[in-house]
Parts: sequence; C-alpha cells; structure tokens
Amino acid sequence: MLYIGVDLGTSAVKLLLMDSEGKIQNIVSREYPICFPRPGWSEQNPEDWFRETMNGLKELLADCDRSQVAGISFGGQMHGLVILDDKDQVIRPALLWNDGRTYEECDYLNQVIGKEKLSEYTANISFTGFTAPKILWVKNKEPENFARIRKIMLPKDYIAYRLSGVHCTDVSDASGMLLFDVKNRCWSREMLDICGVREEQMAKIYESYEAVGTVLPKVAEELDIPASVKVVAGAGDNAAAAVGTGTVGDGMCNISLGTSGTIFISSEKFGVDKHNALHAFAHADGHYHLMGCMLSAASCNKWWMDEIIGTKDYASEQKAIGKLGENHVYFLPYLMGERSPHNNPNARGTFIGMTMDTTRADMTQAVLEGVAFALRDSFEVAKSLGIRIERTKICGGGAKSPLWKKIIANVMNIKVDVIESEEGPALGGAMLAAVACGEYGSVEEAAAKLVKVIDTVEPTPEIAAKYEERYQQFKEIYPACKPLFEIIK
Ligand code: XUL
Repeated sequence: MLYIGVDLGTSAVKLLLMDSEGKIQNIVSREYPICFPRPGWSEQNPEDWFRETMNGLKELLADCDRSQVAGISFGGQMHGLVILDDKDQVIRPALLWNDGRTYEECDYLNQVIGKEKLSEYTANISFTGFTAPKILWVKNKEPENFARIRKIMLPKDYIAYRLSGVHCTDVSDASGMLLFDVKNRCWSREMLDICGVREEQMAKIYESYEAVGTVLPKVAEELDIPASVKVVAGAGDNAAAAVGTGTVGDGMCNISLGTSGTIFISSEKFGVDKHNALHAFAHADGHYHLMGCMLSAASCNKWWMDEIIGTKDYASEQKAIGKLGENHVYFLPYLMGERSPHNNPNARGTFIGMTMDTTRADMTQAVLEGVAFALRDSFEVAKSLGIRIERTKICGGGAKSPLWKKIIANVMNIKVDVIESEEGPALGGAMLAAVACGEYGSVEEAAAKLVKVIDTVEPTPEIAAKYEERYQQFKEIYPACKPLFEIIK
C-alpha cells in the first residue's frame, strides 16, 4: 500500500509518498507566497495552500500505481487562524504562527484573565502566535468578520476539510490554540467563553493517528485515487516531525531547524513547565510533550544569505568559516520577535561585537551560532525542570548543513543523531496515515520499525568549553537590548 504525508509549511507544502516497507517513493514541494502586511504581521491565503497541495499531489502520484494509495495525513504549521463563513468561504487571510500583532490581546489574556487561570485551563499561557489571541484580535479589530465566523480551523485542518468534508483537528495541533484542555484532550469550555466562541464553531478532535473519514468523491476523481483513501487527522508540524524522527515515548528529544526552530521533548506523562516558557502540548503518539519554539531559525540564515549577502550558495559561505567557539560577533535571531523563552514580539534581530577585522564569514557564523544559542535558552529551561537530555535527533532544512549540526552539538553539549531521512513532518504524516490504515499497531511501533539513525555528531570537549563561555556572554545581550526594543518598535 502507499501512504501520503503532507507537510503544510510556511514557505511551501512538501508531499511525500511512502510504501508499506517505509521506503520513500517520491517527494515533491510547491511554494506559495507569504505576506507581511506590516512589521511583525504574517499572513497566507488558505486557497494557495489547497491549490498547491492538489497540484503537488498530482505531481507526487504521477508515476505510481494510484490504486494502491490507502491513506493521507498531515504535519502542518501550527497556531494559524483560518475562519470560514456560512458558505464555507475563507473570511480573511490566515494569521500565521509567527504573527506578532496580538500583543494587546495577549496582555489581556495573561494579565487580566491571568497566567494561572490560563495554565489551569490549557496547561499554557498566551503567546502572540497562538490562536486564541488571534480570535480575540479579529473580535476586537474586525468585528464584522468575527460575526461571520461559522468554522474555526488550523492550517492543515483546512486541507483535511477540503479533502474529506470533515471539520476535524488533532490533539497536538489543537494544543497550540490556547482553547484546548491539554491534560484531558478536549476543548476548554472556559477558554471558548473567554474568546466568545461556541463549541459548534470548533472542530471535532481526534488523536493524530485516527482516520476522520475518506476523500470526497470529487477529490478521488480529480486525483484518480480510490474513494476509500483514508484522511487521517495528522499533527502539528513539530509533533509530526517528532514521529518522523522517532521522537516518541518518554524522554526523547528532537530539534527542528525550519523557518521556526524548536526543541521538542516527548513524555509519557502530562507535565507543565512551571515557568510557562516551554509549551506543554499533547503528542501525536497518544502522550504529551514539552516544546520551546523560536520564531526564526533556518529563516535567519536564509534572510542573511538571500537578502543581505545575496547568494544561494550556502555551502560555500559556510566553508569559509574557521574556528568554532572563538567568534566575537553575536547575533540575536529575533527577526520576527521571539517566542520561547522570552515571549517578546518586540524583540528584533541584532548583530553585536563587530570590529574592523570582522569578516563576512564571522557574520555568517554568528547567524548560525545565534540560532544555536537561542535554542539552548529553551534547553536550559528544560534542564531547570530536571529533564536530562544527552542526545537529540535533528530535522528540517537547516539540518542539511554539517557545520550547523556541529555547532548545535557543541553549543548544547549533546550528541546529535542524524537520521536517514530529514523529512520530519512529511514522513511523520505518512507514518500516521500508515498507523491509521493498520500497517502498524501504534505510532511507537511505526517509529521503531521505520526510523534509522545513520550518524551521530558528537561534541568536542574543547569546542564545547569555548561555546560554554560564549553562551554565558550571549545570555547577557538580550536583557541589555530589551529596553531598546521597546523604544525602536
Ligand atoms: C510551534 C510553531 C512553529 C510552527 C512552524 O509552536 O509555532 O514551529 O509550527 O510551522
């Protein structure tokens, strides 16, 4: 049988076709635009997602035996707000996970409702990218749009809806809405009331590996696949990536270096970060996880390469980088503000420490290191909770760089396991589809059978010691800049 994983990302949708043995048969990718209407705002058109997903599916399936397709599932960019009216039309462009416009709504939720109450209802506090403050923003700033809302959904769930006709979501993605009682895996009545939303506007909740239905007849016809193909709930992209890298069960870690950067720690038990810096979410394996999310990770390097230096040859730029742990230039990677652990939409990207002998390579290195240091900030929060992590998996576009993996291993001082396929969310999606179709008994079984570690990047004691000193300096920069970020916004 054949299983399709759809990774609905921020810059593109990636589609992956996997067979019963877990062999990847094909991968295709289709880009779509992202719009930044104002500094810190970020929007996409759900129609673009669906059009490119359908185009991508046709390309993906062009040369295979389509009668063998059994299931399709998803990993999707999290937290985005998609709202439909009574005719199932999208009311306004989706507000994305890295949109920082909702700071007033966040202040209301965190200060007036209060972090304790939010944490009691949802296991989390409010961050500007989360969905609940976006709903409040539409309610406050676009009341005419708010009045038209009939269905509220997350990005990948819009695709599932167009494919199956079922208004569904899964526990991992629902966790990032701040409307979901993570511990009990159901909508929080209190949070729906706070946001002025009715339960019938919300999706039906599934575990990530559960089928929500089958493809609609018109979809089956357009794609020339059986009408029995199961549409499976899927997961937020980080939980799907964790499945795709085998980060399931207890105490496993995955780092994703995509547009965002995340550190994801799986856990069999429900637990909340008492500092509320890490998100406490449900996992796609039926359990839970903690996660730190930085809003700009591989996107910092992309910005630096494409927009500032003006090159597409990332590998050559990285070749010029010399010694690790001795760079005097630092970079704060807050190009879209920052989520974990600072929760500050006004934070900004910053270079500091340049002198007349600073080279282009030093600046490039600072960008890669800045992302690693910022990930370590979340890692330190996890350590302060008593979580011991000695190794991590890694995935995402940034994970293709051997140098970046080495920097991460040394900055965090942990082993970095490289797996056969870096296609985290798309592979995780296909694996969830395979579980729902009965190919594997559980997500953990699928991960044990399909995920193979092919290499390990180990930290080097001298380099890790140098980076330890550098990290202590890096940590001082954000607090020193913070008052300035309030002035220059
Ligand atoms: C996670 C988050 C990002 C997006 C990226 O909380 O906001 O990782 O899911 O697609």
